[in-house]
Order: sequence, then C-alpha cells, then structure tokens
Amino acid sequence: MNPPELTEQVLRLLRDSSASLPDLAEAVVEEVVAPLLAERDRLRAAIGVTTLAGRIRFTQGEAVTAIADLDGSGIEEEVMLFVDPPYLREGNRLYANGMTEDEHRQLAQVLNTSPARWLLTYDDEDVVAQVLYPHRRVLAYQIPNTANRARIATEHAVLSDNLWLPQETVLLPGSSSAWVREHPVAA
Ligand SMILES: C[S@@+](CC[C@H](N)C(=O)[O-])C[C@H]1O[C@@H](n2cnc3c(N)ncnc32)[C@H](O)[C@@H]1O
Repeated sequence: MNPPELTEQVLRLLRDSSASLPDLAEAVVEEVVAPLLAERDRLRAAIGVTTLAGRIRFTQGEAVTAIADLDGSGIEEEVMLFVDPPYLREGNRLYANGMTEDEHRQLAQVLNTSPARWLLTYDDEDVVAQVLYPHRRVLAYQIPNTANRARIATEHAVLSDNLWLPQETVLLPGSSSAWVREHPVAA
C-alpha cells in the first residue's frame, strides 16, 4: 500500500465509523498497521534471501585446502568462514568423515594464519584454547545438543582476531555465553 492509499484507508475508517476513539484506534492498527508490518516482514525476508543468493557458493571437498586456497585469492578479506569441524571428543563416532588429531592441528594452523574472518565451533575441550588456538579469543556458550543425546551442552567458539561480533556475549539468542579468553594473545 503506498502513502496516498494508506492515508485514504485511514480517512475512510475515520469517516465511516461511529465507533469510539479506542475502537477506531484498534481498527486502524488491525486494518492498516498490522498488514503493513506483515508486508514489511515478508519483503525483508525475501530481500535477505535474494540478496544473499548470489553470494552463496557450495563446494564439497577438503576444508583445510579450501581455507588455505583463500589466501591470495583476492576475496579473502570479504569472506566470513563458519567452521564446524567434527567434535574432538565424539566427532569420529558421529560422522562418516572424522578428523585425526593431526588434521585438527592442520586446521588450526591454516585458520590461525588466514587473513579471512572466521568463527569456529568445537566441544568444550581444554585443548581448543590451550593448544590449538592459544592466541585467539574463545567464547563458551550453551547450546541444545541432540547429536548424541538430548541435553544442553557447552561448546567453545573460537574467533579470528579480525571478527567483530555485535553482541559478543550473546552468541546464540536466548543462550548464555562466557569468555574463556576475552582478548587475543600476542604471538
Ligand atoms: C559437526 S559436522 C558439521 C555439521 C554442519 N555444520 C551442519 O550443521 O550440518 C562436521 C562435518 O565435517 C565433515 N568433515 C570431516 N572432515 C572434513 C574435512 N577434512 N574437510 C571438510 N569437511 C570435513 C564431516 O563429514 C561432518 O559432516
């Protein structure tokens, strides 16, 4: 509905109604404001999907190589990586393709030197902050986990130094988070 149509509809409601002011206000909200809000939400969702659609590329393959290949590609500073490797504790039991300790180390090596922005999630093993990512920020957060058995699990998110989070301590809406390491550590 464009502005003149909107004005016309509000005026029609006021003109045709013998209702009290509160009833009129309610009618305006129901007949004019609510449909506009619904339309705004529909458009926002549609614009979000179409805007992103052209920027999403699916590839299948070895993550460590794909991340390393970003370096010098010319797009590395535009890229945001969400890295969700198999869990350290149970990953090799849950997925057809698990990762060896050495592969977890290779992944850390390539991420720790990547110019891209990235967010990595793991289970809450000390080795994440202490051995694999000793210089990066690490945030512990609560998450409903159904991968193995239904429970609230604590996971660790590791953040590249160049990643800015709008609300650092709310990684997931409605879930609490706490820093394991709040600031990057100089190498
Ligand atoms: C925790 S799951 C990711 C789940 C995914 N984020 C989702 O929400 O569906 C880890 C995945 O990493 C895959 N994977 C294991 N080793 C890999 C590797 N070297 N390169 C790329 N993917 C690998 C596994 O097959 C598994 O699907």
